[in-house]
Formats: sequence, C-alpha cells, structure tokens
Amino acid sequence: MQKEIAMLDVHKIREDFPILKREVNGKPLVYFDNAATSQTPQVVIDTIVEYYSGYNANIHRGVHTLSQEATDAYEIARKKVQQHFNAKHSHEIILTSGTTHSINIVATGFTNLLSKGDEIIVSALEHHSNIVPWQMLCERTGAILRVIPMNEEGELVMNVYDDLLSHKTKLVFVNHISNALGTINPIEEIIEKAHHVGAAVLIDGAQSCPHIKPDVLALDVDFYVVSAHKLCGPTGVGMLYGKEEWLTKLPPYQGGGEMIDQVTFEKTTYAGLPHKFEAGTPNICGGIAFGAALDYMNSIGFDAIAEYENELLNYGTQKLLEIEGLKIYGTSKNKTSVISFNLKNIHPYDIGTIVDKLGIAVRTGHHCAQPIMDFYKIPGTIRASFSFYNTKEEIDALVEAVKKAKIMLS
Ligand code: ALA
Repeated sequence: MQKEIAMLDVHKIREDFPILKREVNGKPLVYFDNAATSQTPQVVIDTIVEYYSGYNANIHRGVHTLSQEATDAYEIARKKVQQHFNAKHSHEIILTSGTTHSINIVATGFTNLLSKGDEIIVSALEHHSNIVPWQMLCERTGAILRVIPMNEEGELVMNVYDDLLSHKTKLVFVNHISNALGTINPIEEIIEKAHHVGAAVLIDGAQSCPHIKPDVLALDVDFYVVSAHKLCGPTGVGMLYGKEEWLTKLPPYQGGGEMIDQVTFEKTTYAGLPHKFEAGTPNICGGIAFGAALDYMNSIGFDAIAEYENELLNYGTQKLLEIEGLKIYGTSKNKTSVISFNLKNIHPYDIGTIVDKLGIAVRTGHHCAQPIMDFYKIPGTIRASFSFYNTKEEIDALVEAVKKAKIMLS
C-alpha cells in the first residue's frame, strides 16, 4: 500500500523565513544556494534571541540558575539530535563545530589504530573535507588511500568498490549525497560490504541531512556526521555520531576543560562520553538552536520535504534543459534537488554574476569537489540547489535569468 504523504504548503512555509521577504539588486530574492547553507526560520532565530536575552551562561560548571537552565537546554538538544538520528545512546552524540570538525576527530583518532599498508577507501564524489583529513591520516600512518571511481552520470562504480575491498581495508568514507551533483549514494550496500571485511564506515551526511532522516541504528553505520546549518540551524555546530565502542576506543581530539576527569601535573584522566570529545566551552546557543531546527524540520516532515523537493528537481531539470546548449552534470535517477550545469563554453562565474544581478543566488565554481570537476574536465559548474521553501515560480525566474545571461555572454 502506498504511504500517504501530507502535502506541503509552500506559501505558508515561506512565511516562516524572514529573509525570503528581502530584495537583492531591486528584485525579490531567489535563494538557490541551499547546498552551501540553508536559510533560518523565525522559530530558530527566536531560540537564539531567547538564549542570549534570557539564560546565557556557561554549561556543566555552575550551580547558579542560569547555568543550570543553559545546561538543561543544551542536554535536551543533544537528546533531540539522538532521537532524530535514532542513536542508541545520547552519549554517542558529540556536538561539534560542524561536519569538518567531526571528520577530523575521527581521522585524527585513527592515527594509532592504523599501520603501514592498511587501506582506506573514499569515493570520487567526496567534498574536500572528506578527502584531505584521510590523506593527512595516510601521511601519518603509511596507510594507502583507494578511490571508488564515478561514471558519467555521477554515480559510484560499485563493482570497482567490490574489487577494492579486502582484509587490508580498515576504513571506508563516503558521502550520503554528493554536494556537487546531488547523487544519493547506495550507503546501505557500502556499509554492509565494508563490515563484511571488518572495516569501519563513516558517512558524511552534510548534504543528506536536509533531505533525508537517516536511522543510524538501522544503517548500522559506525560514524555519521552532519552540520546544523544545512538543515535550517545555525553555522558553527554539528554532530559526530559514533557507535559507543568506537568512541570509547578513539583518543580525545583536543585537550582542555570539560574533557577531563582528574588533572594533576603527573597525569590526566579523561571524562567519559560525550565530554571526552567536547573540550572547551562549546557553541551552547548553537547546540540549542540545532535542536530547535530539528523540531522545525520534523514538524514539516521529511517525507513531505522529499516529495516536494523531488517535484522541484524534475521541474527544474526539464525547464533548464529547454535552454539550447545547457548541459547538466549529475544525471543519476537517484538524486536530490541539486542541479549542476554549464552553458556552452561560458564560464560559470559569469553566469553566476549576471543571475545575481537579477536577485538569484546560485553557487559557481568547483564546490569543494575538484576531483569531480577534473573527471568532467571542466573548471566548475553553476549549481542551483532547491529547498522545501522554494517554488516553481522561482525556477522560472532562474530559467529566464540564464536565458538573459546567455544572450549577453554569447
Ligand atoms: N560544502 C558546501 C557547498 O557544497 C559549502 O557549497
């Protein structure tokens, strides 16, 4: 039986986002740079204002009322994150400054767990933040980096993954969704096959978290990492989910306050989870607002979001392809609402500049994924990434703007 999905009322939803009322260069803002960062609903802005105007204090260290209120709100937020991603324990949720921080905690933590000749597998679709920390880990340990290649559609070539896996494979790192192309990777299969050879798996969920509600227990993934600002939360806060046994095994990433049990000049013992990985005063307000953002997204519903964004993706793909000479990169059937494209041999930056003059925000360039651009032998693309608060009328505006840019630049 087909699942009933509640219809999403986009015009009502747009009222939640004050920024969507502004103009840019005298035109109504059309915000299509959601893969870089999402916009912030009033309820999250209010949470931030309430924190700073009502109970701003440091956490886990004061007996005073403000500190207790802030601590309670922060720990409630951690629980919300736990419930959202379906982790078994709230101490498996480390609140970090974002995806990059989360990945670096794991990559650094594996330094003493790898030996020369061990192998690490990443994919050709990775963001630089899921390439560089592993290269640095290989430099420290003598481990070897292997890459699952991609095909013309922007999908991973999975039979090569099968060949790359062996008893030497210790770690596999793949993004759930490619930020540059929107491809949804077959992470269930990737995780299962990696576990079969005894390798641990980290999934970079920075681009999936606004579109999909992952269940880390069902996925049986070892690590899952996200940034709050991709799903209507603030910048500077994110999550490292790790299975308890892995987080117990990994050493702390930074030394400092909060992450200790006992300190003497002779020896320091570390705090338990999650504090072992949370040295220093964290982004308290950000963590609380992360919880508010999850509440907001869940109140709309991820099934409704996915269905609506898919409609935008299909509409945008069809309309943009009507422009003669336009080529879309990333044509997998399994993708989210990201359209990366170029127009003839016009530089992406020139198109981005002209459409901005018409009030439309897109990202241009290599999208921190240079290996993908090298694969296609292009300097970059124009990337329009749609969110659940965008409309078909906005896509029409983009199509008209690209047509204008084409006339001006041809
Ligand atoms: N990783 C972000 C993007 O794809 C910044 O734009």
